[in-house]
Amino acid sequence: MTEKLNIGIVGAGYWGPNLVRNFKSLSHCNVKVVCDLDESNLDRIRGLFPGIGTTTEFGRLEEDKEIQAIAIVSPVHTHFALAKKSLLAGKHTLIEKPMATSSAECLELIDISQRQNLTLMVDHTFIYSSPVRMIKKIVASGEIGELIYISAKRLNMGLFQKDINVAWDLAPHDISIALYIMGTVPSSANCQGRAHITPDIEDVTNMSLNFPNGGFATIHNSWLDPSKVRTMTFVGSKKMILYDDIEPMEKIKIYDKRVEVPPHYDTFADFQYSYHYGDVYSPYLNQIEPLKALCEKFLDCIRCGHQSESSGFEGLKVVQILEAASLSLKSQGCNVGLTWEDNSGEGSAWPLKTACSNCERETELDPEA
Ligand SMILES: NC(=O)c1ccc[n+]([C@@H]2O[C@H](COP(=O)([O-])OP(=O)(O)OC[C@H]3O[C@@H](n4cnc5c(N)ncnc54)[C@H](O)[C@@H]3O)[C@@H](O)[C@H]2O)c1
Repeated sequence: MTEKLNIGIVGAGYWGPNLVRNFKSLSHCNVKVVCDLDESNLDRIRGLFPGIGTTTEFGRLEEDKEIQAIAIVSPVHTHFALAKKSLLAGKHTLIEKPMATSSAECLELIDISQRQNLTLMVDHTFIYSSPVRMIKKIVASGEIGELIYISAKRLNMGLFQKDINVAWDLAPHDISIALYIMGTVPSSANCQGRAHITPDIEDVTNMSLNFPNGGFATIHNSWLDPSKVRTMTFVGSKKMILYDDIEPMEKIKIYDKRVEVPPHYDTFADFQYSYHYGDVYSPYLNQIEPLKALCEKFLDCIRCGHQSESSGFEGLKVVQILEAASLSLKSQGCNVGLTWEDNSGEGSAWPLKTACSNCERETELDPEA
């Protein structure tokens, strides 16, 4: 590919500059304009990235014929309206997580993108990280046996959001990782939580996802924790994986540990669990920035027209689960059933390899490369 793709980025608060930096670092991409309602944020962009145009008017991006793609990095309640305008203006669109505030909005965006033949992708950043890719590879190899349980903790002191609760803010990461690794969608979800600081906006939540094959995931999110925690445990019938994203080097450890129940016993005295303790190892991981891999994937999808592992359909799945969790929160944690329609036409499983035969280069992220 020789011609550079021009992109506009909307939202230059906390996260937006990271997308500007990563898209700017790609040789086949030009960040043409950054849009934000707040002039002081645009000042910061002009200081950090001289040469990039800035505007407070989203219409400037819509009307610019040279801009082929727009990334929406503004607050969640603005995603739908901005993404809809972007798609209707004929721009490929990348939306921050969570994709929108309801599944109806997600479906409408998917529909427009399909009718316009445009790439629609959601920033489920961790799907593009080396540790998560490695965990997917290990689980798919059968090394840990059958994956029976995932436990996720994503805890922080803040940052308190005004328009969404902590589950909508932090759980999209845990849910997207869980769905990607499980390779399937849950049949029900439940959630409990409390709003300690801002009335009606839960700052601590505990969500459970029940998968049809018996798999189970529990997700704990908090803005009221003294330390930053980013851990996920993947428990298999043979081995267990601990993923700690805060660890600088050994983010994944594979424990040869399991509990075995005796196959048969005659008396209660015969009955004893056996605990197996074996080696622990930490595989080498490629130190690529996940957001850069995601930006590259967005450009590849635009070029080739294939769906990414965080397409609009995956964004919709995460939002459907968050909706079920919200319903459960309002009903004292009752279990909310989820039914799924595979309207992607691609099946609900995520292939390890997503590279398209039309790609000019390998788009697969190798966690060990
Ligand atoms: N993928 C990740 O790891 C990650 C991390 C943090 C935030 N996010 C997501 O990024 C998005 C933004 O989060 P943030 O923390 O940067 O928020 P933020 O409040 O710091 O920044 C949002 C910016 O959008 C601007 N804005 C609001 N409405 C606008 C409009 N209509 N047009 C143009 N600009 C507008 C605001 O002025 C602000 O500068 C959210 O969807 C959030 O969930 C993702």
